[in-house]
Order: sequence, then C-alpha cells, then structure tokens
Amino acid sequence: MRNPFKFGTIVENEFFTDRTQELQYIVRVMESENHLILINPRRFGKTSLVVKAAKQMERPYLLLNLQNVITTQDLASKLLKEIFKLYTWEKIKHLMTHFRIVPTISTNPVTSGIDVSFQPTSDSNVLLEDAMALIEKVSTPERRLIVILDEFQEIMQIAKGLDKQLRTIMQMQQGLSYILLGSQESMMTEIFERKKSPFYHFGTLMHLNKIPYQDFLDYLNERFSPVIGEKSETVAKEILLLTNCHPYYTQQLASQVWELAKYEEIKDNLVNEAVVRITSNHDLDFERLWVKFNRMDKQVLQALCRGENPLQNRQLATSTIYSAIKRLMRMGYIIRTEKYEIEDPFLKRWINDKQL
Ligand SMILES: Nc1ncnc2c1ncn2[C@@H]1O[C@H](COP(=O)(O)OP(=O)(O)OP(=O)(O)O)[C@@H](O)[C@H]1O
Ligand SMILES: [Mg+2]
Repeated sequence: MRNPFKFGTIVENEFFTDRTQELQYIVRVMESENHLILINPRRFGKTSLVVKAAKQMERPYLLLNLQNVITTQDLASKLLKEIFKLYTWEKIKHLMTHFRIVPTISTNPVTSGIDVSFQPTSDSNVLLEDAMALIEKVSTPERRLIVILDEFQEIMQIAKGLDKQLRTIMQMQQGLSYILLGSQESMMTEIFERKKSPFYHFGTLMHLNKIPYQDFLDYLNERFSPVIGEKSETVAKEILLLTNCHPYYTQQLASQVWELAKYEEIKDNLVNEAVVRITSNHDLDFERLWVKFNRMDKQVLQALCRGENPLQNRQLATSTIYSAIKRLMRMGYIIRTEKYEIEDPFLKRWINDKQL
C-alpha cells in the first residue's frame, strides 16, 4: 500500500479533492472569450487546479513558469519549446513562415526533448513577437489553446517594459485563452488592479480559498481508515486544526502521520509525533530564517503564534506593525484568510516551542 498523500508537486486524480465549484468557474471563463487571473498565496493548489480544468476541457494547454525565465529571448525560446511539445513539426512548420529570425531547433539526446536557440545577437523583441504570433496561429476554433503563465508577477523582473510589450501583443490575439497565475498577492494586484498598469483589468480575477473543512476531513478520514481504524476521524480533525485546511501543509502532515502509523506502528499522539518530526527536520532552516527577521517582524510573528491580532498591540504604533505585516506577507510568511495567520504551521510550532 503506498502513501495516499502527496505534497509539493501538482496533484491529480486520487490526490486531488474538492474544488468542484472552482473548476466549473474556470471552465466557464475558458469557454468564454475572457482570460483568467488567479491570485493566491503559495501552495494553495493553483497549478493543480488549472491543469485539471484544462485536462477536463480536453483542450491543448501550454504551461510555462515565469520563475524559470531569465530574459525576453529565453521567454521566446521556452514558449516555442512548449509549442513543439504540443504540436508535431509537420503541423507547425508552415505556420512559421512569418518568422523574421529563424531559430535553431534540435533534439536533445539526453532529455529527448526539443531545444530551441537563437543567435545571441538576435533582437529579443522580434523573437518574442514571432513566438507569440505562432501561439495564436496554432490555436484553432475546435481546439482552442490555453496558455498558462505561472508566477506571472515575475514578468516585472525579466525585462523592463516586457509587461507592456506582452500586453500589446496579447490584446490583439484572438481564439485562445490565457490563465495568469501568481502567488505574490501584492505584485499581482499591482499588475492587474493598478489603473496605469498595462495589464489593468486584463481578465477575470479569481481568488482561491483553502479546501473546505468537511471535504478535507472526509478525504483524510477515508485514507486513514485502512491503517488507523476507528481513530481516523479524530486524527484527521487534529491535523486540520493544526493546518487550518491549508492544502499543502495538510497533505504534508497527513503523509507523515500515515508513515508513522503504517511503518512505525505508532498509535498514541500520532499527530504530535508527526509534527515534531517535520519541525525538527526544518530546525536549521527555521533558525536561519529567524535570525534574519527584524525585531518588529519577530513581535508580529510571536503575537500571531499566541493567537492575537498584532494590530491590537497598544504599545506599538499601528503603522509600524502594519508595515511589518505587509512586509511579511510580501515574503509569504503571513497570509490573510479570515484573519492574519502564519503561513507555515510548522514554523508556528517551532516559534512556540522555542518561546522566543
Ligand atoms: N485539490 C487539492 N486536493 C488536495 N491537495 C491539494 C489540492 N490542491 C493542492 N493540494 C496540495 O497542495 C500542494 C501544492 O499544490 P500546487 O502546486 O498545485 O499549488 P500552487 O498554488 O501552484 O503552489 P506553488 O505556489 O508552489 O506554485 C499539492 O502538492 C498538494 O499537496
Ligand atoms: Mg504553482
């Protein structure tokens, strides 16, 4: 019997739970002429969700993570590479006659994938325009292409003015759908909500919540039953209390609990034992992290650990606390759901244990 929980990579099939309404919503947007912008904290399940939606629609999709893109030229060649994965050379070669700079295309014997390269001196704007034009050409009304650009906020780091250039091209394109994903909420909001931004109101904005409690409880319970038996539900509830239904951390903790129950036959304090193991595995990382926080950051994190609202601290100026919260949110250590909370329940536990 293999571990029924999975964390860290895209989840599909039996590892994916709930999100039925969100899936329906994405499908509706993709069937329309509109584009979708999905903004969320890290590891809420963005990529898994949109990949599932694309597969469900049986439409071709291209997924590119902009975190892995270094320059405009790199963006052009990575887009082409993805197109070559989706369509046969026979199908696209006649669509490439418009290319002003012909790329060198070769098969990589190691990865058996396709490599695309350009002369280093090529004008990168031309390369990008040509690649984007090809994207539009390969899409057909029967099989409309979905282009998923993950970690889209990185667009601002790749090259100056790239946002404007891309927007100019994208707004002229027809017959394909874009899904733009991002995990840095402040930057994504800046890109799509600031009036002067080229991407202002480019598409339908969507925020993903955590997975609903009851669904996650059933999901955990069902998978624990064969190894834990009648205590499954209690264990599942303990897990959700700690992770507050965060998709990634719930799966991580559930996975560890399952391992302990199955292979070490631990019966009592299962969840606590699992938390101790995970937290101690990260001890060094947390230590390194902690020393980097400034005094105000530490105070905010400690208040959150105690379950307090840091903004209610009367000894400190609200504006100072607020800017610390904003900074910690930008870096991803704090997320805002119904309230502010520490993103990582294991970091929270570590801070609590150290009583720093
Ligand atoms: N629908 C789901 N059901 C169960 N677990 C899920 C679901 N969606 C996500 N997860 C859990 O969260 C993890 C992260 O999912 P995914 O990589 O799709 O999120 P993401 O928001 O794209 O993350 P990142 O910010 O790292 O790009 C998965 O590996 C899985 O453990
Ligand atoms: Mg992702």
